[in-house]
Formats: sequence, C-alpha cells, structure tokens
Amino acid sequence: MLDWSDNASSAARKPAPAVLLTTPAPEPTGLGTIDRSGGRVSVDEKRMINCRADVNQLLPLKYKWAWEKYLAGCNNHWMPTEVSMQADIALWKSRDGLTEDERRAIKRNLGFFAASESLVANNIVLAIYRHLTNPECRQYLLRQAFEEAVHTHTFQYIVESLGLDEGELFNMYREVPSITDKAAWAIKHTQHLDDPDFKTGTPEADQAFLRDLVAFYVIFEGMWFYTGFAQILSLGRRNKMVGIAEQYQYILRDESIHLNFGIDVINQIKIENPHLWTKEFQEEIRDMVRTAAELEAAYGRDTMPRGFLGLNAALCEQYMHFIANRRCAQLGLARVFDEAENPFPWMSEAMDLKKEKNFFETRVIEYQNGGALSWE
Ligand SMILES: [Fe+2]
Ligand SMILES: [Fe+2]
Repeated sequence: MLDWSDNASSAARKPAPAVLLTTPAPEPTGLGTIDRSGGRVSVDEKRMINCRADVNQLLPLKYKWAWEKYLAGCNNHWMPTEVSMQADIALWKSRDGLTEDERRAIKRNLGFFAASESLVANNIVLAIYRHLTNPECRQYLLRQAFEEAVHTHTFQYIVESLGLDEGELFNMYREVPSITDKAAWAIKHTQHLDDPDFKTGTPEADQAFLRDLVAFYVIFEGMWFYTGFAQILSLGRRNKMVGIAEQYQYILRDESIHLNFGIDVINQIKIENPHLWTKEFQEEIRDMVRTAAELEAAYGRDTMPRGFLGLNAALCEQYMHFIANRRCAQLGLARVFDEAENPFPWMSEAMDLKKEKNFFETRVIEYQNGGALSWE
C-alpha cells in the first residue's frame, strides 16, 4: 500500500509547519522527488486523473484496453515512403486526368491534414500527457505521438512526390478561413491546458480536461478526420490518387484506434468521477459536437463548391451527421441530429485492410502480425 501522506519519519525529526494542515499531493506528472519510503503500487490505487499513486510504475496493469491498443498500434506499423506514388504523380501531372474541382478538393484536404496532424501531436504531448495520470495510458500516448509523426511525414512525402507548393499546403490552416475556423476552435482547448497554472483536481479543471479530450479525440480525430478520409478514399475507389488513398487507409486504421482510445479514456474518467458528468456538462458536449459538424459542413462547401462524381458537400454533411450521432452514442449521449443514413458505407471496408486487400487494387503491405482490426 502506497501512502503518500506518510511523512512519519521526517515528521518525527522536525515538527510540521503550523500553517500546513494537509500533506501536499504528490506531483502527478511523475517528475516529483522520488519517494524512497513509498510502497509498491496496487491496481486499486491506479486512476485515470488525479492519481495519488506513483505514475512511473507500468505494472500491475489496470486498464488492459489501453495496453491492448498500444500493442495494436505497434502491430499496425507502416511508413509512408513504402507506398508507391508513381500513379499519383502521373495523374497529377496529366493535363486532363483530374478536374479543377477534384484538384481543389485534394489540395484543401491535404492542407487540412498537413497541419492538423501537428496540432493533434502538440495536444497529446503538451496538454494530455501531463494530466493523464496512468502509465498504461501514457504508454499508448507515446505510441500515438509517434504515429502522428508518421502521419505528418506522409504529407511531407506527398508534397515532395507531387511537387506541390509546400508553403501553400502547410499554411492552409492559417490562410483558408474554413480550415482556420476548425483549427482555432480546437486549439483553444490545448491552450487552456498548456497554461502552466492549470492543474486538474477541481470539478472545473477536470471538466476542462474532458473538454479537451472531446475536442481532439472525438471531434478532430473522430469526426473531421473521417470526412477527410471519405473524400480521398472516394477518389481512390474511382482509381484516382491511389497512392494517397492507400496512405489514407493506413492513417484511418491508426486514427480509428486513436478515436477508440479517446472514447475509452473519457468513459473511464466518467466512471471514476461521476460528479463531472452533469446534465449541463452533457449538453455542453452535445453542443460541441453540433458546432463541430457545422464547421465541417462549411469546410465541405468551401472545398467542394460544385461537387464531383460520388462526392459533394451535401453528402459530406450527411456523413458528418451520421458520424456525430455515432460519437454521441459512444459517449452515452443522446444524438444531436435526426437519424441520418451513412452515405459512405464502404468506409468500414476501407478500414479493414486484411479483409479488403485489393480495395484500391494496389500493393498493400501486410504489417498486421497479430491482433484484431476491429476498431471503428
Ligand atoms: Fe494522425
Ligand atoms: Fe490521431
């Protein structure tokens, strides 16, 4: 049993200052002074947030779902440079292989993802990691952070392969208002947690932490990324930009685990801290999901003003409503939109690389060497 309030030996040597009524909580970051007399951590002491036990002891595992996701992430390892870009280069350089509308949608899509991967990585490293006081969850965050680096690498590789204007693409999150609106909406949550004075431990602060988890895992990665994947994979199904589509298939597989990790983290925090999940707070989260879907619809209209075969802004908005309702259900919340049919049912097939090896009839590298690919 690890007793953080046990200062008995030092207290016997010198009296505690009169003003100190309670023992200060240990540093939840794991960077505090090492407690030489502390006991070993038991499973019961482990908690998602505000844990008082040592966060530097991975074992014994409490949250097996977090460890399983870490293993699944490792089993799905891939690198963007292993995907051939020859067909994409030929199509991009061809005079009439792509319409102007398709080129605009592809560039906007790449521009959105190029900076978004960095925003997500920053949020993990600078905001989430510090306050998530569980070593098995941190183990997964470290894996996820690397995967976000691989995703950013993907956009560097695409820019280089196609000879795109790197300044244009990597600045779209600042220069294209419909992309800036999404990034700005999410980044305010990171800024809040990155404040050096921010600490969890009060209901207000713990709810701010939950808001950040919802903004990034459920909305950024779990909603906005999904319409982005659908756009490129829809082109891939028509045999256009098949290299990028294959890379997006791998990113989608990674992101589906990121999303499910985030959902599990939020739901576990709810179980351990039911006082945070008030009716008002649930309404606030539903409002966040609704606003995010509206931001995505505006981005869809901006990206595909006319639409093209199999894809237009209205279908993307319908898909966003379908996904938004699904995310609410995963969090135990009532849906925010009228029931919507999934306009892209093939998205679930795209995720399962094992079952659909020839989804784009391109070479697919089998990295999966164990574990199920059942995340969605
Ligand atoms: Fe990513
Ligand atoms: Fe991600």
